[in-house]
Amino acid sequence: MTGTPTVYVTRTIPEIGLDRLRERYEVAVWDGKLPPTKEHIVSMLAELDAAGLVCLLSDEIDAEVLDASPDLSVVSTFSVGYDHVHLAAAAERGIAVGHTPGVLAETTADLAWALLLTCARRTVEGHAHVAADEWETWGPRLLTGPDVHDATLGIVGLGEIGTATAKRAAGFEMDVRYSGRSPKPEREAELAEFGLDATYVDRDELLAESDFVSLHVPLVEETEGLIGSAELQRMSEDAILINTSRGEVVDTDALDTALAAGQIGRAGLDVTDPEPLPADHPLFRHAPERLVVTPHIGSASTGTRNRMAEMVAACTEAGIEGEPLPHSAIRDAGME
Ligand code: GLV
Repeated sequence: MTGTPTVYVTRTIPEIGLDRLRERYEVAVWDGKLPPTKEHIVSMLAELDAAGLVCLLSDEIDAEVLDASPDLSVVSTFSVGYDHVHLAAAAERGIAVGHTPGVLAETTADLAWALLLTCARRTVEGHAHVAADEWETWGPRLLTGPDVHDATLGIVGLGEIGTATAKRAAGFEMDVRYSGRSPKPEREAELAEFGLDATYVDRDELLAESDFVSLHVPLVEETEGLIGSAELQRMSEDAILINTSRGEVVDTDALDTALAAGQIGRAGLDVTDPEPLPADHPLFRHAPERLVVTPHIGSASTGTRNRMAEMVAACTEAGIEGEPLPHSAIRDAGME
């Protein structure tokens, strides 16, 4: 590599990150509204002889992409999740992979709660009712739903986002259960500081006992289809399922069947399979009475998106300079 290294960015991330990259590198940005095709990313990396790639969760980064530029030393994804990056292929090639953990946990937990409260208190339906000029009088049976306070919240996956989501249950005086591969005493201690006695239970028990089930697992082989028809059948008929993790963690057909059969009460999804979810998808027939969907906006607060942009810039700089990344996906996935 001679001259100033080049970085290719697959979407217009917040300016603060682009400015930081531009201080040291030549930066080319795909400014389309939709993601570039994989062919386009490959041809840009090759044409630019890129040293760095900043990508989004909608870009599949596989061996073909990683081989596109001989100078590629780092891929930084503008996301905490890295299921779209073939980590083993990157590690084999000595290409570092950065991501953005930590900064978005609280913001994503806020969104999980927005969906939880929306599903319980039926605010989307309420708004539609008013907007359609159907609000004629105060109604004793109008848009009733379950109480959130004093209910039981089940957290599947007590990682950073799961813990941040659980913490918020303190204000609602809820019982908190969690499931996962093993108990997490340090997370329990963190929650105890908020007066929460989070109990570790197995997943079946959690599904059977929770009024609200919120999913916070990464997408890996064992979590794909984690919530399928057997799991949905274990939930109570009034229970509300919230997914802010990855769409593939829930079996969409099974959810469709469960909602149609009244096996569970409602679902609030920020992530779907497929994603984007077309408005004519069969699942959508349950909206808004039994289903609320948002377009994968878990981390979408202005402050968090700015911090994510700075983090991908910092990871890219470290990768190009040959230094350890501040946030390495390869390390965080336990592959180092
Ligand atoms: C969002 O889903 C992310 O992984 O950052």
